[in-house]
Amino acid sequence: MADHHDDAFDPAATSAAFRGFAATARQTAPLYAHLSLAVARDPKLAALLAAAPSTQRNPVLLFAAIHALLLRGDDHPLGRHYATLPDRGAPGRNTAVRDFTDFLATRRDDLAEIVADRSMQTNEVGRSAVLLPPVAATAEREGPVGLLDLGTSAGLNLLMDRWSHHWSTRAGEVVLAGEPGVQVTCDVTGPAWLPAEPPPVAWRLGIDRSPAHVDDPDDVAWLLACVWPDELERFERLRAAVEVAREDPPPVRRGDVVTDLVEVVAEVPDDLHPVATTSWVLNYLPVARQDTFVDLLDQVGRERDHTLVALESPHRTPGLPWPPGVAGLDVTVLATFRWRGGGRAETTTATAHPHGWWLDTTRQRRI
Ligand SMILES: C[S@@+](CC[C@H](N)C(=O)[O-])C[C@H]1O[C@@H](n2cnc3c(N)ncnc32)[C@H](O)[C@@H]1O
Repeated sequence: MADHHDDAFDPAATSAAFRGFAATARQTAPLYAHLSLAVARDPKLAALLAAAPSTQRNPVLLFAAIHALLLRGDDHPLGRHYATLPDRGAPGRNTAVRDFTDFLATRRDDLAEIVADRSMQTNEVGRSAVLLPPVAATAEREGPVGLLDLGTSAGLNLLMDRWSHHWSTRAGEVVLAGEPGVQVTCDVTGPAWLPAEPPPVAWRLGIDRSPAHVDDPDDVAWLLACVWPDELERFERLRAAVEVAREDPPPVRRGDVVTDLVEVVAEVPDDLHPVATTSWVLNYLPVARQDTFVDLLDQVGRERDHTLVALESPHRTPGLPWPPGVAGLDVTVLATFRWRGGGRAETTTATAHPHGWWLDTTRQRRI
């Protein structure tokens, strides 16, 4: 590792970042929380993170790099603590920090290479459970849709109508049959349009500034490495979804959500209603670019009816035209923004789990 990278290492900031991450991960990722506390106590353990660009130096990147090496087959005792690895023993938590410390010391160069090269990449299939109902409701009103997933990663949510959906509601379970190996479940509170038939998606395209391709083994390995090993269900589902997608890969290409927006909407055939989806993407745009994104949607809307289904945090996307009462909320909101007859029309919002495990429409707002 080059010296100038070591200069960038900030022990106090590293310790604080790992302490904060330990608190976040405590409920769903106890292994990462446990290891993070070890780094918080001894931040030098994570000094190799200085090899990453400054905006990427965060605990999850280090953990993803470690997970990537283990998934690649590195036979180190640390692997025994990972639920995602085959044949792991039951070593007990007390050896985890020792194994982790040894792994960081002995794999330092390989890890530094990965963190210098890769940034965190997620493609969460579970989000299809909450994205599909508003897409289906829009198709019910507007006819067949052309689906554009902006910030699509590997395009797995473009295949939302391929997965097996199970929505639990107070009135019972609603099932949309699909690929048996990819079960997407969601607890729904409040009224929602839950279709028993796949919506008529007649055309689809995904763009991403850094797309992952389901037929590229390195891309797939990195997507899997970014899933937290305690979340075995997500990991297995992602692997199954990639397998399905590989048979007939979703159309995904490099593109920018803002720069290429008008062009890609224009590609949607004239007889289809364009529905763009974004899920945990617009928070990556500076606020000025979020504003430009909305201006461009308005520009498109002057020429053509279209719809945006966004699963985003209002707190992190102040540039979106959130209704009063929703603007600024630090939760995940599922919103349907509509452009009809030359301008912005009704907007509907509900709250959701960031990965789609639940949807709550009871405090739904319409403007
Ligand atoms: C957290 S991931 C979410 C991926 C996917 N939407 C999902 O829900 O699984 C964010 C994605 O947004 C992409 N992204 C961020 N800024 C972008 C931009 N300006 N244009 C295109 N893609 C962008 C990233 O490359 C990444 O794949």
